[in-house]
Amino acid sequence: MCYAIPGKVELRDKYVVVDYFGQKKRARSDFHEVSVGDYVYAQGGFIINKVPPAEAEAALETWKEMFDELQKIDLRLAEKKDNLYQIANNLRSRYSGNSSCVHGILEFSNYCDNSCLYCGLRKENPALERYRMSVEEIVEAACSAAKNFGFKAMVLQSGEDRYYDAEKLVSAVKGIMAQTPSLLIMSIGERSVETYRKLYAAGARGVLMRFETSNRALYEKFRPGCRLEDRLRLIQELKKMGYIIISGFLIGLPGQSEKDIIKDIELTNSLGVEMFSFGPLIPHESTPLNSEPVPPLEKILNTIAQTRILYPESRILVTTATETLEKNSAAQRALLSGANSLMINITPEKYQSLYYLYPGRAGSEKPLAERIDSVIKLLKSLGRAPSDLGLA
Ligand code: 5AD
Ligand code: SF4
Repeated sequence: MCYAIPGKVELRDKYVVVDYFGQKKRARSDFHEVSVGDYVYAQGGFIINKVPPAEAEAALETWKEMFDELQKIDLRLAEKKDNLYQIANNLRSRYSGNSSCVHGILEFSNYCDNSCLYCGLRKENPALERYRMSVEEIVEAACSAAKNFGFKAMVLQSGEDRYYDAEKLVSAVKGIMAQTPSLLIMSIGERSVETYRKLYAAGARGVLMRFETSNRALYEKFRPGCRLEDRLRLIQELKKMGYIIISGFLIGLPGQSEKDIIKDIELTNSLGVEMFSFGPLIPHESTPLNSEPVPPLEKILNTIAQTRILYPESRILVTTATETLEKNSAAQRALLSGANSLMINITPEKYQSLYYLYPGRAGSEKPLAERIDSVIKLLKSLGRAPSDLGLA
């Protein structure tokens, strides 16, 4: 579990132990020399930043009261156990507490070398206007999200776009880490192990890579030219390299059964993920799956609840596709059905509508500051501590 409230370093061993109001968390200190008594920010199990004592003590002062208040609200909301969703929410509160991660996601290129049958970025979609951000633009956008809005964990996402070779990607990661040390999570698809090794050396510590479906026949049908074994082997390799992994699947692939979805949940867990990321397949008009039905929100909520019940300590993301199903209420309903993480789109506004994976994508309607504000309000109303952003 991670808090973007400062923690105090207690012990040094192979791992550093960080104390948050009496709760002890283990973290690795790859980027900084720390000693007992230092204040730090930790994300996803990594110490991201040292915090000057005066700043940390002031932040902790504000947090203490709010922390108790939020916990009370959460405990009250999580009391009931009358249906599947409430049972899942109760387990979330008991086993994972009220902290909710809020990561930023920066979509830096919508070019893709692949042809997944469900995706608007597939290379056979000539209708899409393509864009690529330069390394400088990527660094600027990520650093501005970190400095102006307090993001401490950010996903750098693109289609599988080999225009960005290891050198360009490394420059982007180094550029961001030099200005604002953050938990950087790469979501760039199947690239060589060597590329990922260089990115790790440059400071990236997370990978977001869904396996999309555990059903091999469906995988090969909907991701032509790709093999499930290759993807799983790469994810396992990256986990071994030290990356934290976010992975998951699509719900609503034609031919996917209930049993497939349970297997998808189990496979995600068996990869040792830091966070589950799954959501509905929303049909895109310019893809071969354009006439498929949109899965009902309840199907996604059921999958969130099943995941929470199977793995009570997990971190489960409310994905943008899930939010898209019911713009005003899906995020809240998902958070009350076992989910405990959100992502906020930090892509520069001029590119957001071009990252057109599927129609009607939530999260681009308002300027970033207003969207952050709504997320913080939502989390506070549910008694959740927004752990990456800090409370406004
Ligand atoms: N609906 C929902 N999610 C989609 N993705 C791609 N196309 C769609 C769609 N039509 C998801 C894939 C991929 C992620 C970047 O976007 O699961 O992993
Ligand atoms: Fe490319 Fe990913 Fe879309 Fe497949 S799902 S076409 S790999 S962006």
